[in-house]
Amino acid sequence: MQKNMFFLKEQDLPTQWLNIKSVLPDKLPPLKEPNDDRGSRLDVIKKIRTKAMLDQDGTEEKWVDIPGEVLDKYIQVGRSTPLMRAIELEQYLDTPAKIYIKREDFLPTHSFKLNTAIPQAYYAKNENVKGLISETGAGQWGLGLSYACNMFNIEAIVFWVRISMEQKPFRKYWSEMLGGKIYPSPSKLTSSGRILLEKDPNSYGSLGTAIGDAISYTLENEEYKYASGSNLNHVLLHQSIIGLETYRQLEIAGDMPDTVIACCGGGSNLGGIMAPFIQAKVENPSNIKLLAVESNASPRLSKGEYKYDFSDPLGITPLTLSYTMGHDFMPPSSHVGGLRQHNGSPMVGMLRNKGILDAVSYDQEEIFEAGRLFTKLYGSIPAPETCHAIKATIDEALSAKVNNEKKTILMCFSGNGLLDLNGYIESSDKKR
Ligand SMILES: Cc1ncc(COP(=O)(O)O)c(C=O)c1O
Repeated sequence: MQKNMFFLKEQDLPTQWLNIKSVLPDKLPPLKEPNDDRGSRLDVIKKIRTKAMLDQDGTEEKWVDIPGEVLDKYIQVGRSTPLMRAIELEQYLDTPAKIYIKREDFLPTHSFKLNTAIPQAYYAKNENVKGLISETGAGQWGLGLSYACNMFNIEAIVFWVRISMEQKPFRKYWSEMLGGKIYPSPSKLTSSGRILLEKDPNSYGSLGTAIGDAISYTLENEEYKYASGSNLNHVLLHQSIIGLETYRQLEIAGDMPDTVIACCGGGSNLGGIMAPFIQAKVENPSNIKLLAVESNASPRLSKGEYKYDFSDPLGITPLTLSYTMGHDFMPPSSHVGGLRQHNGSPMVGMLRNKGILDAVSYDQEEIFEAGRLFTKLYGSIPAPETCHAIKATIDEALSAKVNNEKKTILMCFSGNGLLDLNGYIESSDKKR
């Protein structure tokens, strides 16, 4: 019988995270102050973040120890997640390519977001913080953060992009069952939200407006700290657990990838799965293909500009160098809440700018089609964000078929989409 699910024993789990910063081709450009008279944005960041996260953002160390309590929680939630050889998909596509899929949807809150929510809640608890404040796009991060804060007995307050929250009422209810306090963004509770609502009372919100709400709320309530679910160096550091496990699982399978694929919003599941493969690519660009998959609703890496920009629409945050659609960009309403932000991780931006990362973007209709095929073959429902990676994996496998290439493709399955079903339903209604 062919083995197609690969796990790690507890004693073989990684005990350190891998810092992508240490394997970048160049030094990461610093955050910058904008040239205006509205005060220091770097001071804002220092004020709202936990000390541990500021330290991890700055560290140049290649390896960072995973605290024992965090490792225990990783095991409690089911790490390692399975690495699946997708033989049925290979057969369906009739491709000579091998396809491996890292199943982060097996985690209890359905996505990879727990990998950073757990350490962020752990460090906040150690610093006697009352709770963590954050924003969420698709709701997966808000859900993961609610659970992680609950584990460590601190509060979670989450501002959720309004359009996405209204599309996913069950995920909101689930987050609230886990103790999270969930508010729509733009929010009347914050000065940032009130300014935006005055301009447009019916605003759908965007990840940018929600970041603005979360930061404003933290500044206005000093006993809390701000947590981010993507973009930042420490988030990608924690997510390296995905790639490090996968590397060991691939060793067991006796394979290594020629192509690694992940959907890309802020860039954290991408940074996570690609972490152990970046150095090889930097050393020899023909070694491996690293592919970011975006939504046509916000194709930053494919069509955006590489320049310094704010991460929120009102300019509360410092300027970071990455690909951006412009901080006042309001993406069209769509079901891919986690891929709608105007900019992303500076580390991912540098990889793209140096030609280490390729990028492709898709429309909503074609990605749901790919998701439906996955469901037909494997039963579970991929999150809309994950469907982007599946679509690109299918396209890579079909191109291997045309070129008769026996390549190995690795894909990150970032989350389950059971609570995103209305997106699937709307897209199939449109086709009728
Ligand atoms: C299931 C899922 N996949 C992917 C993403 C994109 O995030 P990132 O680019 O940080 O991996 C999100 C973001 O919310 C998500 O919920």
